[in-house]
Amino acid sequence: MFLVLLGAPGAGKGTQAAIIAQRLDLAHIASGDLFRQAVEKGTKLGQVVKDYMDKGLLVPDEVTIQVISERLNEPDCETGCVFDGFPRTVEQARALDEALASRGKAIDKAIYIEVAEEELLKRLGGRWICGGCQAPYHEITSPPKVAKICDKCGGKLQQRSDDTPETVRERLKVYFAQTTPVLDYYRRDSKLVEVEGKLGIEEVAEAIVDALETGSVAAK
Ligand code: AP5
Ligand code: MG
Repeated sequence: MFLVLLGAPGAGKGTQAAIIAQRLDLAHIASGDLFRQAVEKGTKLGQVVKDYMDKGLLVPDEVTIQVISERLNEPDCETGCVFDGFPRTVEQARALDEALASRGKAIDKAIYIEVAEEELLKRLGGRWICGGCQAPYHEITSPPKVAKICDKCGGKLQQRSDDTPETVRERLKVYFAQTTPVLDYYRRDSKLVEVEGKLGIEEVAEAIVDALETGSVAAK
């Protein structure tokens, strides 16, 4: 199964992708995580993407598509994956369809996690992520068991440099201008599933699994 998780910054794509990937035994491909790891390691890719990320802008399509295509070649993607943060433009959505078609696969569903802007700001303002495995936490809604330590890998938690109020404003602007057309791209293809994202983490995960089981899609 090949799934796409869509939603604004802070909607819970990373949180839900990790849960769904584990439940359905799928690989989790997060473009933002791949870029942050490259920046952390100081690779050539990291040097290219850092400035865009710091400004809250999208990394150019050709760079992003190349990174995802390479990741898709890894053996854990053979039977399926959950894309988190990709595609972010219609150009990327088309490239993903082509990349999967050349492997004899296709996107099954695109899940749109809908969350109001006020809630997005609260979520991003209180987010901490693991510097190692990138797992997201929230100081109020999903704190780690031990302060500042990742439950999953024991890594140290840190705040994302693009979670400052100024960069969050820019990321939201970019999302509404460049990424919302991707919703229509999947809606036209009868693959879009809309899920209410204001509920708790477990309830949203249940709603996603239910929607996948019932095969419900958003009206065109
Ligand atoms: P990316 O890392 O993808 O960031 P984003 O899309 O802005 O999304 P976030 O990761 O901020 O939010 P999320 O939806 O994953 O929420 P999360 O689960 O963490 O991209 C970063 C940058 O990389 C971009 O700005 C761009 O520069 C570049 N980039 C990445 N992909 C690209 C692409 N395809 N093309 C071009 N450039 C690209 O949850 C947020 C918080 O809320 C957490 O604290 C969490 O614990 C909490 N939370 C989650 N769910 C709930 C819930 N149901 N109730 C209460 N709290 C919750
Ligand atoms: Mg994320």
